[in-house]
Amino acid sequence: MVTRRRTAVVTGSTRGIGRVIAERLIADGYRCVTTGRGHAAEAVADTDFHRVDFEDAASVTAFAAELRDLRPDILVNNAGINIPGAVDAYSVHDFDRLYAVNLRSPFLLCQAVMPSMKARSWGRIVNITSLRSRIGRAGDAPFCATKFGLDGLTAALGAEGAPCNVLANAVAPGYISTESIGKAFSNTDLKGIAHKIPAGRLGTMAEVAALVAWLVSEENTYMAGQSLVIDGGLTRADTERWFTLDDRSQSIPGAGVVKGSR
Ligand SMILES: NC(=O)c1ccc[n+]([C@@H]2O[C@H](COP(=O)([O-])OP(=O)(O)OC[C@H]3O[C@@H](n4cnc5c(N)ncnc54)[C@H](OP(=O)(O)O)[C@@H]3O)[C@@H](O)[C@H]2O)c1
Repeated sequence: MVTRRRTAVVTGSTRGIGRVIAERLIADGYRCVTTGRGHAAEAVADTDFHRVDFEDAASVTAFAAELRDLRPDILVNNAGINIPGAVDAYSVHDFDRLYAVNLRSPFLLCQAVMPSMKARSWGRIVNITSLRSRIGRAGDAPFCATKFGLDGLTAALGAEGAPCNVLANAVAPGYISTESIGKAFSNTDLKGIAHKIPAGRLGTMAEVAALVAWLVSEENTYMAGQSLVIDGGLTRADTERWFTLDDRSQSIPGAGVVKGSR
């Protein structure tokens, strides 16, 4: 429950996870500022839409200046891109694009909002990273580099902001059911991925939005500098299914308790 109508900025909210986060925050009673590269018609209803291209240094600098005047209470750095490819032949131009969108722009926006948040002794920042901010994958080196970087930025921001009740955290989604993931993987691949996830399925955008909604709320009074992985248990489990739990119960003394509680 929001006691005062706070203003939240959600970047990259024309579609995907950002859009669902913006919709959730509006439903929770926040005033919402959204961004995208397209037209206002694509924006979530009842939001203040800003056209910003994070690959364009002038565009992001202008938006950062607007945020200094707007003095939002909440910033969700969601906009992000990936251009996969092996390091050997990776284009420096593409690396610079990922750096601009995934790391440089979130840094500039955090820099723009931190002073007013600190002055008011209230602020919440959520940087949307990825499970690629925790574990690498062949063909994703530039993406991993920017998401690990964003996680590092968040850890330090947590330390800088917490003394002034400006709580910065990262949300690291695993495989979430989105249009972008549908384009990146075939249906067969997605079935194989779901099979490896302990929860047995991809996550939903609403599940990510619910976590963000708590982190930016007044209920979060003490969590800062953390990276919260939301991945159905994937990165905390050994997902090699050499044997079933039933097989294991026969070789582990007392494992019947585990078997029964599953
Ligand atoms: N989907 C997943 O399973 C998954 C997993 C891990 C992490 N994530 C992270 O979650 C975030 C959202 O992912 P998603 O799958 O929802 O992405 P998406 O559907 O591709 O949407 C990306 C958003 O970012 C905006 N954007 C892209 N390039 C931009 C640029 N140059 N300047 C400004 N805005 C730009 C897009 O706006 P336009 O309308 O302008 O294109 C769009 O609103 C990303 O940071 C991603 O890395 C996603």
